[in-house]
Amino acid sequence: MILILDFGSQYTQLIARCIREENVYCEVYLGNKHIECFTKFENLKGLILSGGYNSVYLKNAMWPDSRIWNLGIPILGVCYGMQLIAKYFGGKVDLSKCREFGVANVNIKNSNYLFDGLHSNEILWMSHNDKISEIPKGFKVIASTNNSPCAAIENTMKKIYGVQFHPEVKHSINGKKILQNFIFKICNSNRDWTVKSYIIDEIKKIRKQVGKNNVLCALSGGVDSSVAAAMLNKAIGKHLFCVYVDHGLQRLGETERVLKIFRRMFGRNLIIVNAKKIFFSKLRGIVDPECKRKIIGSIFIEIFNKEIKKLKKINFLLQGTIYSDVIESICIKGSKVPIKSHHNVGGLPKRMRIKLIEPLKFLFKDEVRILGKELGLSAEIINRQPFPGPGFAIRILGEVTKIKLNILKKADSIITEEIRNADFYEKVWQSFAIILPIKTVGVMGDARTYEHVIVIRIVNSEDAMTANWVKLPYEILNKMSSRIINEIKGVNRVVYDISNKPPSTIEWE
Ligand code: XMP
Repeated sequence: MILILDFGSQYTQLIARCIREENVYCEVYLGNKHIECFTKFENLKGLILSGGYNSVYLKNAMWPDSRIWNLGIPILGVCYGMQLIAKYFGGKVDLSKCREFGVANVNIKNSNYLFDGLHSNEILWMSHNDKISEIPKGFKVIASTNNSPCAAIENTMKKIYGVQFHPEVKHSINGKKILQNFIFKICNSNRDWTVKSYIIDEIKKIRKQVGKNNVLCALSGGVDSSVAAAMLNKAIGKHLFCVYVDHGLQRLGETERVLKIFRRMFGRNLIIVNAKKIFFSKLRGIVDPECKRKIIGSIFIEIFNKEIKKLKKINFLLQGTIYSDVIESICIKGSKVPIKSHHNVGGLPKRMRIKLIEPLKFLFKDEVRILGKELGLSAEIINRQPFPGPGFAIRILGEVTKIKLNILKKADSIITEEIRNADFYEKVWQSFAIILPIKTVGVMGDARTYEHVIVIRIVNSEDAMTANWVKLPYEILNKMSSRIINEIKGVNRVVYDISNKPPSTIEWE
């Protein structure tokens, strides 16, 4: 296992991806975590200190637990990570006169393993304001650029390395080779992590953890909860009970779809709770997005609580939380304000005496899909686009009303139909509709109309941390727009959202 300590770089997840692609397991922890949290891992082979947005010489800079330097485990610092190394070992880090952003020509010098197989000149990606102006004692410079005489350092005795550039981004042509050298040649990791091995290990763990108790699964019908449920089904069979909450805020035909697919798998252990009324009444008059999310989250908890009381020996709640949910929650980059409260992350209220099981907590979305396939789930389920837990409530801007909900369901289903017809459904991350809290003037026949506006949002993304709006061919957008306006009563305008994340988010609320 390789551990990545995150100091807030937007590329931290990319490092994790690169390492997993080499079949080496890795996890990301907040940069200042106490070492007790990770030294418990017997197979910890190396540490990577990520980049970060801060400067190591500032008072509020985040530092790792100082005991990491004496663990004897190889350490690689990337950008801010390298500057932490330099400062800690007595070097000097200053604001650079020449900031470097973008690709840089890097002169590679001889190194012990880190740069094996690289050319003497490499194109690597830089993104920094600060530079090392004095090299720490015991370290040797192993790379430079015109602006940074010290672009990489090593101390082979201590097995500590630092690079100013970002080997994890694809613009760094041979960056992957540097990470491979670190994890295999320096850390001596083995290529022994695969999704298959993950299933075997997790199933063993779950069986041991659950024993003869029962588990309740919050099944939404989305990819993550379906895969989590299939995994638990394999691990504990009849001890798993799945609760699907029909809150009325799902896609058109969703409840019927869930019944069709999962009744076969879980039989009578699949429980459908019709909760449309309670969701509607609690959301009445609520406009604030965070309020909506909190209300929805708490109704879910209430419903699960009730079901737990009805069933026997339920000591665990299964959730399909995946890694990007967890990481995004820990590192909204130093800010104390969460951007959005994902209602399925953050644990359960203390009064609920039940433990969480989150078997996908360390997997990325595409790994979850591979796992689903291994577990025998159909392509229809595992290739579904993500759908937020709070459902259409966060796509109906302003108050959730029946009229707006009905319009949105129809618009959403037209978008899905057209994106499938155009063979784009699996090529984009998400494609969906939003209904705005305003009306606009239009003209139909010879009459004035004053009706709702639908937004089409179609984005591409690797992991939902960043996203780009999709430049969909105009003909497809045109078809969607004219179908929405012609087929749905109450809509006279359709607009296309052309914003990326960041600075926008994928969902509007
Ligand atoms: P944002 O809007 O934060 O969305 O850019 C990122 C991804 O997360 C999904 N999303 C959620 N999923 N519960 C979920 O299970 C939630 O509360 C939630 N909020 C957003 C969103 O659809 C996108 O894929």
